[in-house]
Amino acid sequence: MRTTSVPSRRRVPRWGDVEPFLRTRPVRLGAAGRIARSLSVDDLERLARRRVPGAVWDYVHGGSDGELAMTRNRQAFERVELRPTVFGQVAEPDVSTTILGRPAAAPIVLAPTGYTRLSHHTGERAVAAAAAEAGLPYTLSTYATTSITDTARAAPGGRNWFQLYLMKDRAVSLAHLAEAREQGYEALMLTVDTAVTGMKRQDKRNGFAIPPQLTARTLAGLARHPGWVAHILSTEPLRFATFPEGSTYGRWGMSNQLREQAIRPHDITVLKEQWGGPVVVKGVLSVDDARQAVAAGADAVVLSNHGGRQLDRAPVPLELLPYVVDAVGDLAEVYLDSGVRSGGDVVAALGLGARGVLVGRAYLYGLMLGGQAGVTATLDLLVDELQRAMCLLGTPDVASIGPQHVRLRPS
Ligand code: FNR
Ligand code: LAC
Repeated sequence: MRTTSVPSRRRVPRWGDVEPFLRTRPVRLGAAGRIARSLSVDDLERLARRRVPGAVWDYVHGGSDGELAMTRNRQAFERVELRPTVFGQVAEPDVSTTILGRPAAAPIVLAPTGYTRLSHHTGERAVAAAAAEAGLPYTLSTYATTSITDTARAAPGGRNWFQLYLMKDRAVSLAHLAEAREQGYEALMLTVDTAVTGMKRQDKRNGFAIPPQLTARTLAGLARHPGWVAHILSTEPLRFATFPEGSTYGRWGMSNQLREQAIRPHDITVLKEQWGGPVVVKGVLSVDDARQAVAAGADAVVLSNHGGRQLDRAPVPLELLPYVVDAVGDLAEVYLDSGVRSGGDVVAALGLGARGVLVGRAYLYGLMLGGQAGVTATLDLLVDELQRAMCLLGTPDVASIGPQHVRLRPS
C-alpha cells in the first residue's frame, strides 16, 4: 500500500495569523477595573470593603445586636428553589413593570440610606442620577447628607421618593414635605420601625457619629484611606443636609429624642392628606400591621426588617410575604427588602407576590467602588441577572412570575 504524505508547507507565521490568539482584554485600572471585575454583588462587596475606612464599612455592612435577623434574611433567600417551565422560554424577557402606577425599567427601587456621602463623597447625587438613568425610583433618606433640593437637581427626570422619619415637632416634617413636593418628589415613604435606633455593636465600639468623631480607632482607620479623607475634607461638610444648617436635628446623637417614637395609623392618614400623593409605609412586619397601614391610606407597604439593623430576631420579610400579599395585595402594592443581592432574589420575591424589591447595601457597595458608575454597574448587574433568570425560568414578563416558580426548601 502506498501512502501519500501530504507535504506540509511551512512558512514563518505572520503577525496577522497570531494576533487573534493573543488578543487580550484591555487592562482597566482603578475604579473602572474594579467595576469590570465585579460579576456579582458579592464581588462588589469584597472590593468595596477596601475602599472605605473600617468604621464606615462597619456602619454600612453591619446589623443590630447578634445580627440574627440579618443572617436569616440571607438564609431565607438561599433556601429558595426556582422551578423552571422550559417550554415558556424566550430570549429576552421583559423586565419592565409599573410601580405606584408608573413605568419602572425593572421591579427594583433604591432604598433610603442615611449618610450616603460616607460611602463616597458624591453620595446621594450620584445614586439618584444613576437611578434616574436606569429608570428606577430612588428614595432619599431624612438622614441624607445631601439636601432634598440638591438631590433633585442632580437627577432631573428621575422618579425621586422621599423617606420620612416623622419628627415629634411636626413643623419640621411639614417642611420636609413642602420641599419634597416643591422639588417634584413623587412619593412619600414613611418608615415606622425606628422608635429607637438599633444597637449596632461595632458602631458603638467605633464611636460612630455624625459629624464624625475622631477616636484613636477611627483615626487609625482614616490614616489608611487618605484618598477618602481628602475627598471628604475638600467637599461640602458631612451633615444631615435635609435639616437647616446648625439645627439640633443635624446631630446623630439627638435623633432618638427628636423622632416620633409612637407612630399610629392615624399619622398615615394625616400625612397622606398633607402630602397629597402616594404614601408608602416601610418597616411593616405583620399581617395585622399591613392591614392597618392600608386601611389608614397607605398605597404600598414595604415588608422590611431594615436589613437586619433594627429589631434583631425580627421576622424575615421573604417568609412573611405570601401572607401579607394574601391579606392586602388587592388593595395596595407590597414591596420587600432586606437581603436582596441578586436577580434571582428579585424573582423569588416577585414569585411570592411582591410588586417589587428595594435594595440598600448592594448599591452602596457599588457607590464605594466607583461613585455613580459603580451604582450604575450594580443596577445593570441586578437587571441583567433578573433577565437571565427569567429567561431560564420560562417567564416572558414579570407578570408571569408566580408562586409556581418558587419553593422554599426546608432549612
Ligand atoms: C439603611 N436603611 C434605612 N432605612 C430608612 O428608612 N431610613 C434610613 O435612613 C436608612 N438608613 C440606612 C443606612 C444604611 C447604611 C443601610 C444599609 C440601610 C434601611 C434600608 O432602607 C433598607 O431597608 C435595607 O438596607 C434593606 O436591606 P439590604 O438591601 O441592605 O439588605
Ligand atoms: C440606619 C438608620 C439611619 O439603618 O436608619 O442606619
